[in-house]
Amino acid sequence: MPDTKYVLAIDQGTTSSRAIVFDHGGQIVATGQKEHEQIFPRAGWVEHDPEEIWTNVREVVGLALTRANLTHRDIAAVGITNQRETAVVWDRTTGKPVYNAIVWQDTRTAKIAEELGALGGGAERYKDRVGLPLATYFSGPKVKWILDNVDGARAKAESGDLAFGNTDAWVLWNMTGGVDGGVHVTDVTNASRTMLMNLDTLSWNEEIAGDMGIPVSMLPEIRSSSEVYGSGREGGLLPGVPISGILGDQQAATFGQACFEVGHAKNTYGTGNFMLLNTGTSPIPSKNGLLTTLCYKIGDAPAVYALEGSIAVTGSLVQWLRDNLGIISSAPEIEELAKTVEDNGGAYFVPAFSGLFAPYWRSDARGALVGLTRYVNKGHIARAALEATAFQTREVLDAMNADSGVDLTELKVDGGMVQDETLMQFQADILGVPVIRPKVAETTALGAAYAAGIAVGYWSGEQDVIDNWAEDKRWSPALESGERDRQYRLWKKAVTKTFDWVDDDVS
Ligand SMILES: Nc1ncnc2c1ncn2[C@@H]1O[C@H](COP(=O)(O)OP(=O)(O)OP(=O)(O)O)[C@@H](O)[C@H]1O
Ligand SMILES: [Mg+2]
Repeated sequence: MPDTKYVLAIDQGTTSSRAIVFDHGGQIVATGQKEHEQIFPRAGWVEHDPEEIWTNVREVVGLALTRANLTHRDIAAVGITNQRETAVVWDRTTGKPVYNAIVWQDTRTAKIAEELGALGGGAERYKDRVGLPLATYFSGPKVKWILDNVDGARAKAESGDLAFGNTDAWVLWNMTGGVDGGVHVTDVTNASRTMLMNLDTLSWNEEIAGDMGIPVSMLPEIRSSSEVYGSGREGGLLPGVPISGILGDQQAATFGQACFEVGHAKNTYGTGNFMLLNTGTSPIPSKNGLLTTLCYKIGDAPAVYALEGSIAVTGSLVQWLRDNLGIISSAPEIEELAKTVEDNGGAYFVPAFSGLFAPYWRSDARGALVGLTRYVNKGHIARAALEATAFQTREVLDAMNADSGVDLTELKVDGGMVQDETLMQFQADILGVPVIRPKVAETTALGAAYAAGIAVGYWSGEQDVIDNWAEDKRWSPALESGERDRQYRLWKKAVTKTFDWVDDDVS
């Protein structure tokens, strides 16, 4: 590489947007971060303001560059990673969103999903083509909701004025000029979360889009995860800098964790938890409640697929204890509170706030705290909340083992919650395999940086990622297996108490 020496990653997440400057060794040089508002208009609805997100992205890029004492001339490439299924619909002629972004956790599309299933095939109607069950999680039905409910939106969509994207496409379009020549592109990993992309051909499925009443003209062009899509607009902070990597956040973490071989897996502990297992160059259908999804595609090389176990609520349960109950004042405090007690005191907390995702896919479930007695105190509740993350992860790991026919022998972890050592030890105890944390825990941003850097030759390929990866700490199982089995059985019983809560009177 000539004069330019760093790569910038933009991580447009569910709770915040981050910009991180990485050096050639994959080390963090500087970070900018800003949270955006979580908008809850009614029970079950979750929205973000796309304009706030775009403003924050610009701000954090400025912060990261300033803190690193760099200008755009020092940046070889920019990578984008993002919260995935969150749907933005905007007007290409004005650049304005027609509605707030509907976030992946939002459950308003339950009826739409049910109606689509009723056309034939039920929840599995599209699974053989897109790898996903009909559920509130994915973006396609969210776009349908916007077109059905926003005045004039459908007519504008049909005349070609509207554009859809997950937040990667929204950020890219704005970064490359917006109304002034913005590039409307997404990558295969994001496209695989819409329910609209054929897994085998990596192209939009017109029949499914037709079922949902979504004009294909609204959809971004599907590209690989590592190639030059465009460059920063003139007048912005990154004029002329190639934007050359896009990966959904969980796929980016998989990339940043160097999971390049069949059988490699990682688990990310953020707002929710997401375990991805690299299954190689052909999609493997799941028989156990996992998603078949794109893992990454580097330029012209064949696409690589993954099995994914998605858990909606893990770190956000910690936020809920902080913001809604006020029993802690910051996320790390949950560990101190949990350590005031020996065990969960018999309490099990199933955070089915958005229904249950993998491996159950039950939109009719809602959260439950069970096993309560006069004995239970807030320490037990804190512990039960942490344990919920570990138990849900065990259920996903069991599904992975069953689908792949091979038992994972260790688990690489990352994300905000892996700072919690009490949780990490309990995770190893409940899984019965070692849990390993890398030195650079910001693997999401790191993966996007690698994808972008590889596209412009800053890094030569996957081997650089493997060489830069380093272990920080590992936790080994210490719980006796009879006790592990007992607690896991009680967890599974607790899960059954959340089923069937939503009916005609409850949404
Ligand atoms: N020490 C801790 N113990 C337990 N949970 C924690 C701790 N620190 C952070 N968390 C939780 O981790 C989550 C933040 O993790 P992370 O920063 O990986 O998420 P994120 O990337 O911001 O999420 P997103 O990408 O969805 O915006 C929060 O939900 C927070 O409650
Ligand atoms: Mg994240």
